[in-house]
Amino acid sequence: MPLRQPTEMPVSALELLRADHAAVIELFDQFEQMKQAVDADEKDALVARICGELIVHTAIEEEMFYPVARDAISADDFFDQATVEHASAKDLIAQLGEMEPDDELYDATVKVLGEYVKHHIAEEQNELFPKVEASRLDLGALGQRLAERKTALMDEIGLADLDDLMPKGILGDARGEARPR
Ligand SMILES: [Fe+2]
Ligand SMILES: [Fe+2]
Repeated sequence: MPLRQPTEMPVSALELLRADHAAVIELFDQFEQMKQAVDADEKDALVARICGELIVHTAIEEEMFYPVARDAISADDFFDQATVEHASAKDLIAQLGEMEPDDELYDATVKVLGEYVKHHIAEEQNELFPKVEASRLDLGALGQRLAERKTALMDEIGLADLDDLMPKGILGDARGEARPR
């Protein structure tokens, strides 16, 4: 199953994080396109997937990537701000966890979460990643550790188990090209 496939080739930490970003942006875009067409269960599954991907991604960044990057480059303000942005995203994820897909503000909450996340991703990729790339960090070794932790967390929260509930057409798009293998 692709989600549980071990990483055969070493993947750079930044490649892994960029692939995560691309995958979740694709899922948000799919939500916008399909929100009227899919039924409540499929919508719920799609949002659960989005939230699950974000929970795993923010966890590996906060546990492993940010601490070593913070040591390697001088960008404390960036990391403080990024941590606050993660907290805002987690608040919205928690709100979605309490909502039903037919709640009045459900779609708007997903939309705002998507906007926050896209803004945050742009900052990471445009401001942080170039500095990290130019640093002394061993991004191959870090990528391996991130990949292992990511697989463990995905198993822990049962992300792959959502597959059967996802709207048709979503999985190929969101898990195909964007995901590191
Ligand atoms: Fe982040
Ligand atoms: Fe990120």
